[in-house]
Amino acid sequence: MHSSLVMVVLQLLASNCHSFPFFNGFHYDHVHSGRSTGNEKGEVHFNGMKLVVDTPKDALFAYRGGNVTLPCHYYYEPELSSTGRIRIKWSKLHQDNTKERDVLVAIGPSNRSYGEFQGRVHLLQTVAREASLVITDLKLEDYGKYKCEVIDGLEDESGIVELELRGVVFPYQPFGGRYQLNFHDAKKACEEQDAILANFDQLYKAWEEGLDWCNAGWLLDGSVQYPISLPREPCGGKGVSPGLRRYGVRHKLHHRYDAFCFSSSLKGKVYYLNHPKKLNFEEAKAACQEDESTIAKVGQLFAAWRFLDFDSCNAGWLADASVRYPIAFPRLKCGPPEPGVRSFGFPDKTKSTYGVFCYKMS
Ligand SMILES: *[C@@H]1O[C@H](CO)[C@@H](O)[C@H](O)[C@H]1NC(C)=O
Ligand SMILES: *[C@@H]1O[C@H](CO)[C@@H](O)[C@H](O)[C@H]1NC(C)=O
Repeated sequence: MHSSLVMVVLQLLASNCHSFPFFNGFHYDHVHSGRSTGNEKGEVHFNGMKLVVDTPKDALFAYRGGNVTLPCHYYYEPELSSTGRIRIKWSKLHQDNTKERDVLVAIGPSNRSYGEFQGRVHLLQTVAREASLVITDLKLEDYGKYKCEVIDGLEDESGIVELELRGVVFPYQPFGGRYQLNFHDAKKACEEQDAILANFDQLYKAWEEGLDWCNAGWLLDGSVQYPISLPREPCGGKGVSPGLRRYGVRHKLHHRYDAFCFSSSLKGKVYYLNHPKKLNFEEAKAACQEDESTIAKVGQLFAAWRFLDFDSCNAGWLADASVRYPIAFPRLKCGPPEPGVRSFGFPDKTKSTYGVFCYKMS
């Protein structure tokens, strides 16, 4: 789109070699010739107008279930008192920045939102020339880069806003243990535990915060890695510095590993059910139902532990038939000295008895 405009400008330059005010952006005659770059006489009245779109340089952080405003403002250089009809378009860039998806398009007072954003987005225009986007009830998948595009006649400028979710990354192995999941299984396994497959940045951040896991797991980009804080022989070697160990991109169908899942804060609450006796897995599920809740998922337990300091030295069943317990305040007889969600793996569903963690909406 811009290249054809460049052609027009160049042609005009060639035929009208007078002095132009020249900026880096495009120029058009706003006042005299209705936004065209020339008039019938071939005269050009550039007045050096430039549209600038302003978005924050730093990423914004938010929580799942919360609301966020992605700031976007535009202005003209030099200042312009009135403008015509502005079109504002917000889109979300795909993780590899190649594709984008429409989020919201607004022309004057009318607007339209798309796909999973329908009903969850609106523009915030509290001051003149604001085009900020409000997203409500944030989903785990909402993190990423958003493009704010302002279109005023021939001018089309945009800025990027990056949204990150505060969250928790946890390694996941299904029943049956290590290295059972191809990429698609891994994605599904995370989703079944109220989480999504983590991306590289999320795993990296978790490693910075101390995550250490000696089994390789899938990430969203199809690569397989694992985070090591304490270098040791079976985990990539003792002499190697701490960091993410990479297996690189693997075959999504044929190769099998664990998964790294990502979850953020939680609507509702997770609790250890007060119950007179220990339960097997089926009894545990039924007991939560009797309490008008459901058995908690692994991602929900991690979110409660991470964001609400949920702490229970009693182990309980979870929805995937694993048994775990969350420790926010390490103490004697509650496992290792670091905070964490401890796992007993997948005990026998009928013969083993434990407590249960339930989850209640709101
Ligand atoms: C988000 O916004 C909606 C509607 O604007 C409001 O009902 C809700 O309470 C807000 N949520 C939070 C967490 O602030
Ligand atoms: C967008 O459209 C909705 C309903 O279609 C309307 O309530 C709202 O005021 C419009 N404007 C903005 C800026 O979101």
